[in-house]
Amino acid sequence: TSDLPGPSPDQVQAHRGASAIAPENTLAAFRAAAEAGAKWVELDVALSADGVLVVIHDDRVDRTTSGTGSLGDLTHADLVTLDAGTWFDPRFAAERLPTLEQVIVTLGELGLSANVEIKQHAHHTSLDRLVDAVRSAIATRRPETRIMISSFDPDCLKAMAAKEPDLEMAMLWVQLPQDWQAQLAAIPAKTIHMHYKALSIGILEETRKHGIAVRVWTCNDPVQLLSFWDAGLAGVITDNPAIFLK
Ligand code: G3P
Ligand code: MG
Repeated sequence: TSDLPGPSPDQVQAHRGASAIAPENTLAAFRAAAEAGAKWVELDVALSADGVLVVIHDDRVDRTTSGTGSLGDLTHADLVTLDAGTWFDPRFAAERLPTLEQVIVTLGELGLSANVEIKQHAHHTSLDRLVDAVRSAIATRRPETRIMISSFDPDCLKAMAAKEPDLEMAMLWVQLPQDWQAQLAAIPAKTIHMHYKALSIGILEETRKHGIAVRVWTCNDPVQLLSFWDAGLAGVITDNPAIFLK
């Protein structure tokens, strides 16, 4: 019922867009997130061989497109020929791998904000080039489009924080490491995105004492998080935002 604790709309992020409903990290998935009432999407970014920042999770195109091969070997011209939807459902055959700039335009039209997860793949040999590609894409956003940056790679976040000190930086961990405070301070970051199965009330109490926000990924069952909202959980990243928003 409506008396159960739950997140506010601003606390729900659609993981790779509404990836339970439409193919992950495509414009269709971001539209589906907006249709579900989400205010935020999480998306993954990586560079093509010729330095174009595209929205895709893996370092290869095999799982989520009609193509094969590593992003490090494929140019943007190669990537736009690929079908990024049929693997999910043939009715999404028109979906392409979008660039972050294209996604930023669509998010503006949909009134969505974005958690941009920077992937650190083997072919990303220059951290500066990666970070600068993210910065130039997000610079094209509308004023009302909010952006946060997340990564499993603390060096990515450090490089980004040095150039964009006003953006929220979220450190991605499966579970909380012993030295979490020192690692966050070194970035600096005030947000943790951790796996929901590793969360505890104790972690929320301890992080809150230090002014650190915690969100969890990737949870598709609202019951799993019921006890955490009143304890200060800041948000959830989910494939199916509708089930957290009703
Ligand atoms: O941002 C949370 C989540 O997306 C991290 O894992 O592998 O789905 O990018 P992954
Ligand atoms: Mg991600």
